[in-house]
Amino acid sequence: MQDLREKYIDLIANAGDEAALEELRVAAVGKKGEISLKMRELGKMSPEERQVAGPALNALKDEINAALAAKKAALADVALEERLKTEWLDVTLPGRPMRRGTIHPVSQVMDEITAIFADLGFSVAEGPQIDSDWYNFDALNIPSHHPARAEMDTFYMARAEGDDRPPHVLRTHTSPVQIRHMEKHGAPCRIIAPGRVYRADYDQTHTPMFHQVEGLAIDREISMANLKWLLEEFFAAFFEVDGIRTRFRASHFPFTEPSAEVDIQCSWVDGQLKIGEGDDWLEVLGSGMVHPKVLQAAGVDPDQWQGFAFGMGIDRIAMLKYGIPDLRAFFDSDLRWLRHYGFAALDVPTTAAGLSR
Ligand code: PHE
Repeated sequence: MQDLREKYIDLIANAGDEAALEELRVAAVGKKGEISLKMRELGKMSPEERQVAGPALNALKDEINAALAAKKAALADVALEERLKTEWLDVTLPGRPMRRGTIHPVSQVMDEITAIFADLGFSVAEGPQIDSDWYNFDALNIPSHHPARAEMDTFYMARAEGDDRPPHVLRTHTSPVQIRHMEKHGAPCRIIAPGRVYRADYDQTHTPMFHQVEGLAIDREISMANLKWLLEEFFAAFFEVDGIRTRFRASHFPFTEPSAEVDIQCSWVDGQLKIGEGDDWLEVLGSGMVHPKVLQAAGVDPDQWQGFAFGMGIDRIAMLKYGIPDLRAFFDSDLRWLRHYGFAALDVPTTAAGLSR
C-alpha cells in the first residue's frame, strides 16, 4: 500500500495536463483501477485482516482523490495564467477615432457665429418656428395690408372651420424673436437669435426652409456706428481675413429706420469667389436702427432706449465660406455630400482655438 501511495502521489504531482491527470485517475481509483481492485480483495480476507486493511485503503483512496483535485485546480490556474498573457489588453491606450457622423455645415456655421458673438458680449435667444401673425408681422410694424406680407411668400397654418382669428404662420424671418425677447427681458439687451425660417420659394438659391440669425442690441446710446464696427469685427473673425471692408446701402424695412443692406468686399477671378479682397460686393444682410413702433410693441420705451437689429442668411454665408455651390443640396441628406462638406464632431469652434480646422 505504501508503494502504491508513493507511486501515485509522485505521478499526480508530475502530470503535465488535464488529460494525463484523467488517465491517472482511471488507473488508480477508476472502476478497474489499482486501488479499486485492492478493495475488492478485502472480501477474501479474514475479518481481522480486513479491519486493518479496510480503513487504510479508504484513507489511501481519499488521499489520492484529494491529490487529483488539488492538481486539477493547479493546472487550471496555470492555463488561465497562460490565457491572460496572450489576451492582455492595455485599457489605458487612447481609443481609435471612428469617423461616422459629421456636423452639417449649417450647424457648424451657427456654432461659429455663436462663438464670435459670445466673445462680443451677445447671448443666444430663441423663439418658436410657428408663430402668431402678430409676432411675425404686426409687432414688427407690418400691418395687415402692407405689401411686405405678400412679398414674404408666407406659409399659413390652417384654422378650424368657423374660427376666424388670423392664422398662425411659419415664421418668415427671425425678427419676431426681437419682440419676444424684449417683452420678456426689457432693455438693455444684446442677443443673437439663430434658427429656421420658412418662405414659399424654391430654386437654385432658395429653399422653402432656410436659416437666419437675428442680432439685436438695445441700450441708451447705441448707433449705426456701433453696428458697423460690430459687423466688421464679425466678418473678419468669421471669414478669417483681417480688415474686410463692408458697404452699407440705404434700404427699407418696416421694422428699422434708417435701414441698410450690408455688402462685403469680394473678388471674382476665373469663376472663383474670394471674400475680403477685390472690387466687387456681395449682399449678406439687412439691418437698421430698431423702429420706435417696434420698441413700443415690445413694451420698451422709445424715448429711453434705442438700438440696432440685423438679419443675416446663415446658409448663404456657409456657402460663401466653405465654397458650397448649390443651396438645395444642404437639405437632401445625401451621405456623400454630408461626408464631403461635414465637420468632425469633436472640433468645437472657438475663437481662441480656431473656428474651422
Ligand atoms: N427680417 C429681415 C429679413 O428677413 C432682415 C432684417 C432683420 C432687416 C433685422 C433689418 C433688421 O429680410
